[in-house]
Amino acid sequence: MILKGRIFHFLDKGNIDNPENSFEYIEKGGLVISGEKIIDIGEFNKIILQYPNYEVIDHKNNIIFPGFIDLHNHFPQVQVIGSYGTQLLEWLRKYTFPEESKFISKDYSKQQAKKFIKLLISNGTTTSVSFCSVHKESVNALFEEASKKNMCMIAGKVMMDRNAPKNLLDTPQTSFQDTQDLISKWHKKNRNFYAITPRFAITSSPEQLKLAGDLSNSNPTCYIQTHLSENRDEIEYTLSLYPKFTHYLDIYLKNGIVNERSLMGHSIHLNDDEISIFNQTRAVAVHCPTSNLFLGSGLFPFEKLYNSNVKLGISTDVGGGTSYSMLNTLDAAYKIQQFRNFSLNPKYSFYWSTLGNAKSLGLEDEIGSFKKGSFADIIVLDSSSDMVSKIRMETCETLAEELFILQTLGGAHSIKSVYIAGKLLL
Ligand code: GUN
Ligand code: ZN
Repeated sequence: MILKGRIFHFLDKGNIDNPENSFEYIEKGGLVISGEKIIDIGEFNKIILQYPNYEVIDHKNNIIFPGFIDLHNHFPQVQVIGSYGTQLLEWLRKYTFPEESKFISKDYSKQQAKKFIKLLISNGTTTSVSFCSVHKESVNALFEEASKKNMCMIAGKVMMDRNAPKNLLDTPQTSFQDTQDLISKWHKKNRNFYAITPRFAITSSPEQLKLAGDLSNSNPTCYIQTHLSENRDEIEYTLSLYPKFTHYLDIYLKNGIVNERSLMGHSIHLNDDEISIFNQTRAVAVHCPTSNLFLGSGLFPFEKLYNSNVKLGISTDVGGGTSYSMLNTLDAAYKIQQFRNFSLNPKYSFYWSTLGNAKSLGLEDEIGSFKKGSFADIIVLDSSSDMVSKIRMETCETLAEELFILQTLGGAHSIKSVYIAGKLLL
């Protein structure tokens, strides 16, 4: 089929101050899909001559854009999102751990997985990197549901053997064995990838972190995800549990879980040594803006990390985050940088949440843009989908302005259609 409309995607990062040459925008475009993949892109008038027998789906004045990639979220927190009044450590104790305990049930895991995938898709997210609960069943449920949609899912069982309720704890040995079993079952099956997932240093004993490093070593194509330097109390507690280490990142580094496949959620309060380790190892600092505002965690040092050439990701962190929408997430990222006297360019933000996150995963040949041969993971954005945006769009003159309106005023209601691997799902 051919999708007709205003086609927009990124070719490269470009310069953050002047990203003009880093994207392709075709006002009257045609995007050609065969099976699961994108096979061509160009001016509609030319494309239709080349593919005369293809079905044309006209998206009119809407923007045809790559599906969003959410680099960090928590599937067992569908019922935790929007929980009142606490910061990180108390929030985990009061809301998160009790809810995650329910995922011992296979049926509950399946029910929630269905809801979670539905929420992602309806918000235009076509690739997700997700934490599951400590239970193997939660991982099976999520990968099964993602596989039904042929969606790219990167996920793993949290390894946690201390400082949480007993019914949420594994042991170093069971977490090692369960992770190994889940890797054999799911890694590189359908569009799934496994992420080795020590939750964070507070809930992992030194022995467990060491085994996470061993798993990373023996499974060199798996990702690694964890949390780092989110909140001041968390950092203080962490360093008291690991007194021999020079800083938070040092704990992960010495245990062998910091490399180019590592996704470090939050990464807010970093010292210069940690920043230089990020730079050298090519680990990814994953920004979680709505969560950082909601839990009062801190203001991500975007400019400093960007200028230090650190690989950066962006994500919702649902349920600490308050929205499944990457548009809302970009809006929050912009507002956080305003506190730091830095105005994040909307073109960079849209790059970041698609091709940028794809590059952070090393998957830029498969997702994140309309490069020929990529999976046809596509969303259709309507910039005038509610009264506020519709009226504001009356005076909009440039694409950059339109993107900024979409991220500031848009949300789930801006997503008109979603295709995953060429199949219309919304
Ligand atoms: N640190 C450890 N676990 C979590 C979690 O579930 N959410 C957030 N935001 N931070 C964490
Ligand atoms: Zn998180």
